[in-house]
Amino acid sequence: MLVPTPERGSRKNKKEEKRRIARIGANPFARIRAIRRFLFLIPTHHDKNLPLPYDVSMSKPDPNLPSAGPDRCVHWFRQATPYIHAHRGRTFVIAFGGEAVAEAGFSELVHDLALLHGLGIRLVLVHGARPQIEERLERRGAALHYVKGLRVTDAEALACVKEAAGAVRVEIEALFSLGLANSPMAGVRIPVASGNFVTAKPLGVLDGIDYRHTGVVRRIDRASLRWRLDDGAVALMSPIGYSPTGEVFNLSAVDMASSAAIALGADKLIFLLEEPGVADASGGLISNLLGQDVEALLTDAPDMPEELAQSLRAGAHACIQGVERVHLIGRRTLGALLRELFTHDGAGTMITASPYEELRPARIDDVGGILELLRPLEQQDILVRRSRERLETEIDRFSLMERDGMVIACVAIHCFPAADLAELACVAVHPDYRSRARGDKLLEYVVAIARRQGIGRLFVLTTQTAHWFCERGFEPVGLEELPLEKQALYNYRRNSKVFIKTL
Ligand SMILES: CC(C)(COP(=O)(O)OP(=O)(O)OC[C@H]1O[C@@H](n2cnc3c(N)ncnc32)[C@H](O)[C@@H]1OP(=O)(O)O)[C@@H](O)C(=O)NCCC(=O)NCCS
Repeated sequence: MLVPTPERGSRKNKKEEKRRIARIGANPFARIRAIRRFLFLIPTHHDKNLPLPYDVSMSKPDPNLPSAGPDRCVHWFRQATPYIHAHRGRTFVIAFGGEAVAEAGFSELVHDLALLHGLGIRLVLVHGARPQIEERLERRGAALHYVKGLRVTDAEALACVKEAAGAVRVEIEALFSLGLANSPMAGVRIPVASGNFVTAKPLGVLDGIDYRHTGVVRRIDRASLRWRLDDGAVALMSPIGYSPTGEVFNLSAVDMASSAAIALGADKLIFLLEEPGVADASGGLISNLLGQDVEALLTDAPDMPEELAQSLRAGAHACIQGVERVHLIGRRTLGALLRELFTHDGAGTMITASPYEELRPARIDDVGGILELLRPLEQQDILVRRSRERLETEIDRFSLMERDGMVIACVAIHCFPAADLAELACVAVHPDYRSRARGDKLLEYVVAIARRQGIGRLFVLTTQTAHWFCERGFEPVGLEELPLEKQALYNYRRNSKVFIKTL
């Protein structure tokens, strides 16, 4: 049954918010959320305190989205366009358990993966096979032993591992080969490449326990994988590795995925899990985590499901080793993978090495993204029109916030040290990302730059945003307060109001 999510700002929600704030001091999960909030890292869906497990139909409807019909499809495509461009040519390593393969809905996941391949994403898939292995052991009247979450693979278990991994691989290859006229993959030919990509070594003897044929990754054959990807294939990795002595080892799919992502320098490592993501103590989904916070989170949550804990640990490690983004997504949520990759709210938990929306100085290759953000505001006469050439010349004055390759906010500062003034210009936040204090953050950032240069006052010229600046300590002044060179350029047709803030 679906539980309706309270609207943001409703009385019920405000009460819940107060309770949540009261919990923050004592609760480590809430503390992490509070830090994330402070760092402006939390997208909207985080605030909804989604109960887990949840369903996509519970998310708040977008008021700008047509309710039905072809318009909705056009709107969806347009909002997804920046993500389509950003993901093209990128390498994603996607891991999923044998549980996903065993379910009837698995073909839908394969269709989504085929779509990603069609959009130019280089895919490396890593599958698990735990239920398939256990089923085979059960049939033989044997059992797979686990010690501290690590499996012990004896000769009989290894035979089951080989059989199960082979069967799952064939199943996946068959689904990728499906091209019936009435299927979403009609007319598509997707080559799938599997092979001996992983060199393994034995886990060995730990605390007196010999783990026998359970192994760990020693090396990933990066060149072979890249060659398959360059050739347009989807690379498929089974949880098996081979040693130079010719032995076969049973590996953890999670570690294998993390090792492959690190070796390839993948842009994303994605775990499709039984859980919808990482939940905080109140059951809300944690949208963003820093790699460095993961260990503390694991220590504070000793009861976390094993698969989730392993993925968190492996994901944090991959982040520290240079994988830009790690996503933990619940595979049971309809279309969760596509939502995470192609909507600004996402659907799971993302781990990054550094704050997700770090403000940084703009570079020359950001000009296109900044223009895309500013053009609609120029057309509405909110901002003065700037040519590409002018923007290129003045790029050193700009700073921006980037999210998944898309410029979502920018600001420029132009210093007039002789007049003890700096101009704040081109403050803009993408409409989808407003009202979450990003504007305040841009302002704080520019104030810090001005202060560092020993400048004591900030001015702005505005036609439609006067109140926003007044509420942040700007005061109306006459044109004569501006530096002379700025007065000379004043556009009387625009008739902008002038405001100054003393720092
Ligand atoms: C102004 C702007 C940068 C604020 O960005 P933001 O990330 O939404 O800012 P914050 O979250 O810090 O502030 C949001 C608050 O500002 C208010 N606000 C937004 N635009 C406003 C405007 N033109 N006048 C008055 N208040 C405004 C919002 O209503 C909200 O207030 P509320 O929470 O009380 O409802 C953003 O709205 C924007 O890009 N506007 C278009 C460009 C623009 O006007 N730039 C200034 C050119 S001089």
